[in-house]
Amino acid sequence: MFLTGTMRINEHNHLEIGGCDTVELAKEFGTPLYIMDEALIRHNCAAYRDTLARLYPKSQVAYAGKAFLTMAMCRLIAEEGLALDVASGGEIYTALQAGFPAAKLIFHGNNKTPEEIKLALDCGVGRFVVDSISELELLEVLAEEAKKNAKVYFRLKPGIEAHTHHYIQTGQADSKFGLGLADGQAMTAVKLILKMKHLEFKGLHCHIGSQIFDFKPFQLAAYTMVDFIHEIKKETGFLVEELDLGGGFGIRYLKDDDPYSLTKFVELVVSSVKERAAEHDLPLPKLLLEPGRSIVGEAGTTLYTVGAIKDVPGIRRYVAVDGGMTDNLRTALYEAKYEAVVANRVHGSPLEKVSIAGRACESGDMLIWDIELPQLNRGDLLAVLSTGAYHYSMANNYNRYPRPAVVFVRDGRANLVVKRETYADLVKNDLIPDYLKPSGLKNN
Ligand code: LLP
Repeated sequence: MFLTGTMRINEHNHLEIGGCDTVELAKEFGTPLYIMDEALIRHNCAAYRDTLARLYPKSQVAYAGKAFLTMAMCRLIAEEGLALDVASGGEIYTALQAGFPAAKLIFHGNNKTPEEIKLALDCGVGRFVVDSISELELLEVLAEEAKKNAKVYFRLKPGIEAHTHHYIQTGQADSKFGLGLADGQAMTAVKLILKMKHLEFKGLHCHIGSQIFDFKPFQLAAYTMVDFIHEIKKETGFLVEELDLGGGFGIRYLKDDDPYSLTKFVELVVSSVKERAAEHDLPLPKLLLEPGRSIVGEAGTTLYTVGAIKDVPGIRRYVAVDGGMTDNLRTALYEAKYEAVVANRVHGSPLEKVSIAGRACESGDMLIWDIELPQLNRGDLLAVLSTGAYHYSMANNYNRYPRPAVVFVRDGRANLVVKRETYADLVKNDLIPDYLKPSGLKNN
């Protein structure tokens, strides 16, 4: 077991987060429940922001909203002075509804639709991260129609294979994301944009993957990107002003995971960029980082209630909880592993080895295989740790389970930031065509 942020075990042997007893949170808000430690999120924002500002003043941290985005989160990010990376019209809309400044939005996506592009042009997003030549051409046409100018980064594939699950590896040549360097697409795009009237070429972007512990691939990516800035200058005379190195920095899911501190990580990235820029005698570009997971991941905990317990004699004990792949797709998708604690009896005995099952109709719906926990009974509360990133944002309604509520906890107070979905929410967009209506409902 490990505790992060403001977590502690209180005098009742209960897990406490942000000064709130999780047993009380379960009573007040029900389970499953996503609990976000606001102080830890703010601490992580500040660690990135302040370290980068100290070591590399011409810089900006952009939080990658896909990790966890709600209107309250947009407010928090605005307060912390970070920019926001958005990946869809829905994320742009969420930010705008929360009053987040459009000029601080960085718009990603490998297939932005014309409608999304128009929305982004209309509200004036700060940067478009163009992912293909086809998108570049579309953006120029739509910008002309809208009589707007757009500031553009190119997303590149630096050709680096980072050690992480292959579903979350993105920097390698065979990836749907980005323009290839080796195949010349990136340079073709640069030459094209320099001739376009409505697009302003501002910078380069890459993102090599996610949940990466090793620093080497980040260093290689930084070198490759600065080399390309140098090449662009030699070939076209154009000096690229901004460099966005994406996110991807790994966090602790298991107690033996040992990521660098955020400060150390930022130091290493900065020195790689400076070193390479000096070698090429290039002025330092403005530097952006786009962390998602490392800002919110360890700040999130999912609280479940234990239900059915089933023994398969001689094989294993399945302990089912009232959530699963509907609130946490990561075990099923990436074979992700987690630690958990019994929130209402953190230190307990005897310990037993169990496997934690979800309740969806799918054999792959397992949250944790083989974990040692104090003996569990129906009604116990199980807290799964490090669920702040890519859990709420990837939640779904399989089996028509309503999605859980989200609370921010801070200084002994819990604030609801997303209401629990209701059954009524589940059917609110459903329509029954007249010919299918039961007679009593006809013409309603
Ligand atoms: N920037 C870009 C362009 C990205 O695509 C991503 C994540 C990030 C930044 C933030 O990366 P982070 O710092 O969070 O690693 N659903 C997967 C992760 C997908 C990551 C997608 N891109 C998971 O649950 O592991």
